[in-house]
Amino acid sequence: MPRVFIKTFGCQMNEYDSGKMRALLGKDGFEATEDLADADVVLVNTCSVREKPEQKLHSFLGRVLPMKRQRRVTVGIAGCMASVEGERLFKRYPQVDLVFGPDAVTRIGEMVATAPSQRILDTEFLGESGYPFPSEVDPDAAGQISAFVTIQKGCDNRCTFCIVPATRGDEVSRPLGEVLAEVRALADRGVKEVTLLGQNVNSYGLKIPGHPTFAELLRAVHEVPGIEVIRYTTSHPRDIGEDVVACYAELPKLASHLHLPVQSGSNRVLRRMKRFYTREQYLDVVARLRAARPDLVLSTDIICGFPGETDADFDDTMSLLEAVRFHASFSFNYSPRPGTPALKLLDGAVPAGVMQARLERFQSRQREIAMESHLAMVGSLQHVLVEGPSAHDEGVVCGRTSAFKTVNFPGSPDLVGRWVEVRIIRGFANTLRGELAEA
Ligand code: SAH
Ligand code: SF4
Ligand code: F3S
Repeated sequence: MPRVFIKTFGCQMNEYDSGKMRALLGKDGFEATEDLADADVVLVNTCSVREKPEQKLHSFLGRVLPMKRQRRVTVGIAGCMASVEGERLFKRYPQVDLVFGPDAVTRIGEMVATAPSQRILDTEFLGESGYPFPSEVDPDAAGQISAFVTIQKGCDNRCTFCIVPATRGDEVSRPLGEVLAEVRALADRGVKEVTLLGQNVNSYGLKIPGHPTFAELLRAVHEVPGIEVIRYTTSHPRDIGEDVVACYAELPKLASHLHLPVQSGSNRVLRRMKRFYTREQYLDVVARLRAARPDLVLSTDIICGFPGETDADFDDTMSLLEAVRFHASFSFNYSPRPGTPALKLLDGAVPAGVMQARLERFQSRQREIAMESHLAMVGSLQHVLVEGPSAHDEGVVCGRTSAFKTVNFPGSPDLVGRWVEVRIIRGFANTLRGELAEA
C-alpha cells in the first residue's frame, strides 16, 4: 500500500482539510503514516497568518526535499501559503511536485496520481456554486470523542491586518443538509462533541435569501442523537445576533465556552483594523451572552502593536482583559502580511521592543487571571467528558468540561467517552487536576 504523510500547520481549518485529504486518499488505497521516512507522498498544509508559521514550511521542506535524492517521493504544498504564494513556491523549491490551495482539496486523488509525471499548480478559488465541501469523514475521527465540521469556507470581511480572505477566498456557506449529514456520520462513529468551523460563523447563510441562519443551524445540530456538546469557532463580535444569544439560554448542548476574538480594546485601533465594532459593543455582547448563560467562559485573540497603537491604546486592551476576565487568549505581535491593507499604515509601525514589552505585559496578566480562575475552582465538582488517556502520565485520563477546561485525573481508559463527576484538587495556568468523585 502506498503511504501518505501529512504535516499540518495553522488553524483548525487546516486540521480539518488534512483529515479530508487523509480520507480521500484512503479511498484511493493510501495508508496514512506518521513516519516521514516511510512515505511515498508527503503533503504539508501551510499557514500564512503571521510570518512565523510561514517559516515552518521552510524548515520542514529542508527535512523532506533531500529525501528525493534517495527515492521517489511526491511532495505537495497545500493550504494558505500555497494559495497566496502559488508559482513562487515552485521557483523557490523546484523539487516540489504539487502546489494547491484549500479549494483543491477534493481533487487530491487526481493530483497525487498525476504528479509523478507532471507538476501541478492549482490555487483557483471556486465560487458559491462551484465549491464542493468534501463529504468523506476523516478516518482518524472514528474512535475520537471530538471532531471538527466545516460549515463555511472563506471570509467576506477585510480586517486590515488579515491575509485569510486572500488565502481562502470569499465566504461560502455549506448547505445545512450536508452539515447535518456529516454530524450524523460522526455521531454514528462515536463522536460526542462537534466543533463547527468557519472564519465568521455568525454570517452563515446570510448572503442567500431564505437560507437557514447560524442560530437555526445550531438548533438543527442540537437535535442530532449522540451529539452531546456543540462548540464553534470563529465568531465575529459584530455579527452575534439575538437569535444566537437566545441559543445560550435554550440549548443545553451548546458549550459554556465561547472564543470571541476582540483583537484590541481600543476603539481607535479597532477602527483602523476595520473590525466594525467598538469596545462598548463588544462588552455589550458579552453582557447579553452572560445574561443568557451566567457561567459562560470566554477566550479571545489579541494583536499587540498594530501600526499606530499607542501606550494609551494598549492600556485599553489591558483594561478590557480586566473587564471581561478572559480565561485564555491567543496573543501575538502584529506581523505585516503581503497584500493586506494595513501595510499602508506601516509609517506608524510600533518599534519591535515596545511591541514585545506590551505582549509580555498582556500575557503575564492573562496567565494570572487564568490561574486565579482555576484556583477558584479547587474543591468544586465538575462534569467532565473523558477524551482519552493523558499524553504524559500513565494511569491518568484527560477530559474537558463544557467550559473547555482540561481536567487530568487518575482513571482507567474505560472511562473514555463517558461523563464523570470530578472533584478539582489543583489548578494550573492551563489545566486542572482532579480526582473521580464517583465511587
Ligand atoms: N476569523 C477569525 C480569525 C482568523 S485569523 C476572526 O475574525 O476572529 C486568527 C487570528 O490570527 C486572528 O484573530 C488574529 O488575532 C491573528 N492574526 C491575523 N492576522 C494577523 C497578523 N497580521 N499579525 C498578527 N496576528 C494576526
Ligand atoms: Fe481575517 Fe477578519 Fe476574516 Fe477573521 S473576520 S478571517 S480576522 S478578515
Ligand atoms: Fe493560517 Fe490559513 Fe488558518 S492562514 S490560521 S491556516 S485560515
